[in-house]
Amino acid sequence: MTLAPEVGTRFAVLASGSGTNLQALIDADLPGQLVLVVTNRPNAGAIARASKHGIVCAVVDHTLFPSRKAFESALIERLDAERVELVVLAGFMRVLTPLFVERFADCIVNIHPSLLPNFPGADGIGDALRAGVTKTGVTVHFVDTGVDTGAIIAQQEVPIEVGEGRATLAERIHAVEHALYPRVVGTLLRERPWRRGSSIRGEAT
Ligand code: GRF
Repeated sequence: MTLAPEVGTRFAVLASGSGTNLQALIDADLPGQLVLVVTNRPNAGAIARASKHGIVCAVVDHTLFPSRKAFESALIERLDAERVELVVLAGFMRVLTPLFVERFADCIVNIHPSLLPNFPGADGIGDALRAGVTKTGVTVHFVDTGVDTGAIIAQQEVPIEVGEGRATLAERIHAVEHALYPRVVGTLLRERPWRRGSSIRGEAT
């Protein structure tokens, strides 16, 4: 009998925006299969990036659903159809409810542009600048039902220069994201901690 070759963990990326983190994940030689990109915005840059690389992209437009539950049920259906094990959020701008989070418990990760627990929410970069802090950074964390409150997997600091504006800080934060996220996702794909009922924790840098 011939056994099928190990092809690696099947994962999906959910993105709402330009998709530069999606691109970094595509470009990295990750030990898994990116089988699906999902976006909730019909004009997301992520669509063209997926299509250029021959990756199936599903548009699940949240505005067309009567409730969050109906929207998330549609997301789950798409992910289940592709037998996705790990869900990677990359600028996905919808808060996920227990329906979705419990279906993929311990198998959803997110990247956030601040040193959580500082500056959670939609504008982590702007909030750090407005607070006048001298350093911020990037956090990769598991997703729970709160807003950016899940267990932290990895963090990297980014100092804020005196008088620095949003554009350059955002650029430097994104550069850190594009290196950190593929590294952490790669580790998760390789080690599959959810299969052992434990999670990778505390790789702060
Ligand atoms: C990133 O800054 C990420 O940290 C945040 O959303 C942004 C997405 O950017 N969650 P992009 O669409 O990957 O360029």
